[in-house]
Amino acid sequence: PFPQSFNVVFFGGTGDLVMRKLLPAMYQSHKNGQLGEAGYFYCLGRRNYTPEEYRSIAEEKARHFLPAADWDDEIWAAFRQRVVYERIDAENPEEYAALKSRLDKTPAEVNVFFLSVAPSLFTMICQSLARQKLNGPNSRVVLEKPLGHDLASSNAITEAVGRHYHEKQIYRIDHYLGKESVQNLMALRFGNALFEPLWRRQWITDVQITIAEEVGIGSRAGFYDGTGALRDMVQNHLLQLLCFVAMEPPSSLDSDAIRNEKLKVLECLVPFTAEEVRANTVRGQYRAGTSGGHAVPGYLEEPGVPAGSKTETFVAIKAEIANWRWAGVPFYLFTGKRLPKRLADIVIHFHDVPHHIFPLPSNGSRAPAKLVIRLQPDESIRLYLNAKLPGHSMQLRPVSLDLDFTSKFSERREEAYERLLLDIIRGNQALFVRQDELEMAWRWVEPILNTWAADPEGPEPYKAGTWGPAASAELLSRSGHRWHEDD
Ligand code: BG6
Repeated sequence: PFPQSFNVVFFGGTGDLVMRKLLPAMYQSHKNGQLGEAGYFYCLGRRNYTPEEYRSIAEEKARHFLPAADWDDEIWAAFRQRVVYERIDAENPEEYAALKSRLDKTPAEVNVFFLSVAPSLFTMICQSLARQKLNGPNSRVVLEKPLGHDLASSNAITEAVGRHYHEKQIYRIDHYLGKESVQNLMALRFGNALFEPLWRRQWITDVQITIAEEVGIGSRAGFYDGTGALRDMVQNHLLQLLCFVAMEPPSSLDSDAIRNEKLKVLECLVPFTAEEVRANTVRGQYRAGTSGGHAVPGYLEEPGVPAGSKTETFVAIKAEIANWRWAGVPFYLFTGKRLPKRLADIVIHFHDVPHHIFPLPSNGSRAPAKLVIRLQPDESIRLYLNAKLPGHSMQLRPVSLDLDFTSKFSERREEAYERLLLDIIRGNQALFVRQDELEMAWRWVEPILNTWAADPEGPEPYKAGTWGPAASAELLSRSGHRWHEDD
């Protein structure tokens, strides 16, 4: 049930995430009548804005980031009354008493503290909130990635936050879990009996999970250069997608039922030795090229990137899951910036028929069935099958059964942060990463990080606007697989 009243406190209230994503998301929920009567958004920052100044800035940004068709002056005017700016230096524990008395003015069933700040501040914020007794059973704390830069620093965050909040009060966001399309993956797998018997090593040759981005790093060098694609995308988003593809059916939609199954997948990921890292991973860094028809600079020329940086902007990994369902089936993970287009896909390749009675197609290669689940930009599921080409010959040609979600459903599709924030207020943890999942994911990633860090060679260059270094295609071809983008 949705609480009668809530306060959501955004630390980092003047930051990008709050302005671009969180407030616009909550405007949408307000517009849809999902927030109830009594709910406030306290946006905290160090700057001396008056409440009205802050609201005007938030309005300008929201107007820019929301689809024009969703904007309504009157609804915004009502929504902005829920938005309260409070000046606070979050690094000064003395200033939390004022926050406490401010919140006391709008007592609520649920208090959410959303830490949209650098992780280095997590410990001190949680400690200061706890000193004001803002960590009782009606309090929740929300953490955004990066949750550490390796296993040890991630565990340190867990330990520090855990000193003041129970796991049941902690919501770790991976915004991919809030995407409609990711939830649909569960619907496809566990709402249909059709695929389940085939969803295993006997019928599947390999799985490919791709999150490609057309953008470069923009003005984020300060963050990105110390991070790289492995930490930014693989440790969280890609491994979470892999979990949804590979997990056993959960017994219910209960938060822990789902997270227990995801954890088992992470536990079964085969850890790499240094030698296996070299054999099963490729990292790349973009060079100057073209994107969207324009010339774009290489990573090393982006403002703020240190000379000679070895930070990777592309990763390809061949992972393996050691359990009865998946032993021997490679899970290929790909992600990169400055690739030809924005696209997130999960491709399941099925085995070919055991005996061929139809002629070999003129291009010389048969096309066994495959299922392509497109998560973005346009959400769809396509099942490619072989059909007979009309005419006298018995030539086959792959054709697809298409399910295009935007044309099938007229309902509005929620943005990830709308769903995630409503779930936090509601107290549903199913779409949030549990501590043990986070730890396992870091454990698996760590040998890759260490091996790369010790490797004097650095990432392989690729031209902006291409599908990454050639070595990534070789990673597949060595095992007799092909990237489906080749088709
Ligand atoms: C973020 C990464 O977590 O995900 C960004 O930090 C990346 O580097 C973004 O661009 C991609 O998210 P989406 O939803 O646009 O696919």
